[in-house]
Amino acid sequence: MPDINIPEHLAIIMDGNGRWAKNKGLPRVLGHKKGAEVVRDIVKHTSQLGVKYLTLYAFSMENWLRPKKEVSFLMGLLEDYLQKEVVELGKNNVRLVISGRTHLLPEKTANIMDEAISKLADNNGMVLNLAISYGGRSEIVDAAKKMAELAIQGEIELSKIERDEFGQFMYNPEIPDIDLLIRTSGEIRISNFMLWRVAYSELYFTDCLWPDFDEKIIDNAFIEYSKRERRFGMTDEQLADDNG
Ligand code: IPE
Ligand code: IPE
Ligand code: MG
Repeated sequence: MPDINIPEHLAIIMDGNGRWAKNKGLPRVLGHKKGAEVVRDIVKHTSQLGVKYLTLYAFSMENWLRPKKEVSFLMGLLEDYLQKEVVELGKNNVRLVISGRTHLLPEKTANIMDEAISKLADNNGMVLNLAISYGGRSEIVDAAKKMAELAIQGEIELSKIERDEFGQFMYNPEIPDIDLLIRTSGEIRISNFMLWRVAYSELYFTDCLWPDFDEKIIDNAFIEYSKRERRFGMTDEQLADDNG
């Protein structure tokens, strides 16, 4: 793809699995199953394009409120994905990290996750950040608690805490802000996703349901992203000066 800006950090809200299944007269969980297969292709494609960080919203804090059966199916699917894909992820030089309140995960899921993380720990290609048991507000609350803890112990001075210092308390703080956020399924909302890192993200919404998502939609989103002018509050003249 000529003249395409590849976002350093791409994030995707993978939505619409249930509706995809319903449209076909299938149980919701089969939509999740198909959705997990799509993840494989998208991870490969984005790492080949040179994306450095790919964050996928796989399970939100609010998703814990879904029927028990659906939640356990999703946990099982995550276990299957991590066990089956670890070889392929390794071949693609992908490193795995998780963002979220992972202490809420069933023990078996957490163990499989830790195993996959350590198997891929030495890779230096794309970082795959799975947002699991993740809430944007929970992340900010957790960050504030970590910071308060250090302040109480006298290890940090609150007067020295500004935006960047506070950002260091987020989950996986080495991961930069999101450059491009894609949401599938036609919903035009954020649903408590990465509230801190989405502050100046470019947003791309598609009606495509996640199980029907493919590489072409990524390519189109990148073409659209390349045409956007990211001003970060400045004027376009200032940006032209910076670039010249
Ligand atoms: C996204 O698909 C997957 C998760 C939230 C786990 P949904 O299950 O939300 O599918 P819809 O939105 O009901 O179609
Ligand atoms: C957001 O989708 C969470 C994930 C994709 C994991 P939801 O389907 O849970 O979001 P809402 O409820 O439609 O906002
Ligand atoms: Mg949904």
